Amino acid sequence: MAEQLGDLTRTHTCGALRPDDVGADVVLLGWVHRVRDLGGLLFVDVRDRAGVTQIVFGNDDEALMAKGKRLRSEYVIGVEGRVQRRSAETVNPKLETGEVEVVVRKLTLLNEAKTPPFSITDDAQVSEDVRLKYRYLDLRRPRLQANIGLRHRVMTVVRNYFDANGFWEIETPILTKSTPEGARDYLVPSRVHPGEFFALPQSPQLFKQILMVGGMDRYVQICRCFRDEDLRADRQPEFTQIDVEMSFARPETIFGIIEPLMREVFAVIGKKITTPFQRMPYAEAMAVYGSDKPDLRPGMPIQDVRELFRESSFGVFKSIVAEGGTVRAIVVPDAASYSRSAVDGIVNQEKAQGRHLLWARRADDGTMTSSFPKAVGEETVRQLLDATGTEKGQLAFVVAGEPDTTSKMLGQLRLNLAKQKGLLGNDEYAFLWVVDFPLLEWDPEAKRYNSMHHPFTSPHDDDHALLAKEPGAVRAKAYDLVLNGSEIGGGSIRIHDSAQQSQIFSLLNISKEEAQLRFGFFLEALEYGTPPHGGIALGLDRMVAILAGESSIREVMAFPKTAAAIDLMAGAPSPVDAKQLKELHLKI
Ligand code: AMO
Repeated sequence: MAEQLGDLTRTHTCGALRPDDVGADVVLLGWVHRVRDLGGLLFVDVRDRAGVTQIVFGNDDEALMAKGKRLRSEYVIGVEGRVQRRSAETVNPKLETGEVEVVVRKLTLLNEAKTPPFSITDDAQVSEDVRLKYRYLDLRRPRLQANIGLRHRVMTVVRNYFDANGFWEIETPILTKSTPEGARDYLVPSRVHPGEFFALPQSPQLFKQILMVGGMDRYVQICRCFRDEDLRADRQPEFTQIDVEMSFARPETIFGIIEPLMREVFAVIGKKITTPFQRMPYAEAMAVYGSDKPDLRPGMPIQDVRELFRESSFGVFKSIVAEGGTVRAIVVPDAASYSRSAVDGIVNQEKAQGRHLLWARRADDGTMTSSFPKAVGEETVRQLLDATGTEKGQLAFVVAGEPDTTSKMLGQLRLNLAKQKGLLGNDEYAFLWVVDFPLLEWDPEAKRYNSMHHPFTSPHDDDHALLAKEPGAVRAKAYDLVLNGSEIGGGSIRIHDSAQQSQIFSLLNISKEEAQLRFGFFLEALEYGTPPHGGIALGLDRMVAILAGESSIREVMAFPKTAAAIDLMAGAPSPVDAKQLKELHLKI
């Protein structure tokens, strides 16, 4: 039977006691972490959010000892006792409280617990499904306690920072109309309006822009967004954005707000980061790293060496270049450790994907070897190694083909090699603004343009003339914030002129009627004196995951869904009864 809490009041957390406290009478409240029964002596580790403290039962009080012996893992207890120094041989240097223990005078058994399906330690081997089903137990583990605590501290820093900079946190609706972020909507049927639906927001995009029309000047919201899309380690169906919008903003205005914020956020984990962040046009990111979110940590930029082969004796490369293709290379530093068979392994892996990768290397003694056909000649290989700056002990991988595919392939290879070689240091933070995204991307199947960011993004000032002639070449005032190869934020300067907004809709093949139906309220608002404005949304989950050194955002969310978009603990989604469906005018 559980006992009452009564007026039992915690004097210290389980992480607090130190040698200075020896002799103090204390009250601890927490969970039984571990029991060690040595017959005449009983040691119990008591755990709470702050840590673990050892308590001891002596054999001078039989009734108390008997009660102590009933304790099992995860029982909830109150302990009254006196702090004493541990004997030298029992000091535990791994515990912050490891120099002391509490001699129990009174034990209150506040609750019992079933035997948990896994032990509440970080090294327990548990499948993720079991962890998510018993998330309340998983949350007791030190790793998740630290991650959730870190997330809280980051949110607090973010709120204080924006407050100090004149931003107001304003809530926007959850029950709303479909918003244009390009994923599928979660729909909510209306009971009072048969056949009509609300959509959960994919982001507060339209509302934050309307707040600028409404003269709110500087808006921030730590908000939940909902997207029905395929999930990955860095994607959840509901996730949290730090959503920002500012009136009278240029891209640099937004960068000037976000960079110092990042400094403060990283200070939470004691890291100093340097600002301003590097800026890189999208076109350069794609060519040099084969990605719109390059990870700059490993170096190894992709180099264009097509000119070497334009007139070369290597017929295959020569004709690829003649047909408008390219030849690209990456140099692997410190490649001495790559045996011939390791290099062949990499080449064969690419071959299995239908890609033809060549290599050339300089051994430590300067000897050149390569997989280029003999006929290509040593001189061309030497030129290639010189042009790419491949030094002794280094190796160049080379591929020829269509510019986009060669860069993407080398971009992926570069990341795989960097991972293998341990060049993606967990303690290194490479921030990057990718700027000048294309405004539109061509959808070859639908034979139409789509917005690369969203349809409210402003074209680049210098590219207005291209809108009519060559829409695919128009750059946008859009930017992503990339950290270690992860897109942690994205935003843009918006269109604030309703005529231009209509022009963009027509480029996107969105008819006047459709635009009216989907965004009529917003288009009307634009006509009432909209200030120039822009903003950004940062992915809080992704940011905290990187800060915590976690590879999945599920590790920094209290109640994430599985990769199949299921809440295993609550059992959602789930069928509803016929009455509820009828009320909502739904038939399955
Ligand atoms: P965007 O769609 O780029 O922009 O989203 C902004 C940031 O949110 C994070 N993010 C996600 N995190 C976890 N799970 C997901 N499913 C998910 N989807 C996105 C990413 C991303 O960079 N309204 C615009 C912002 C703007 O223009 O101001 C928007 O939502 O880190």
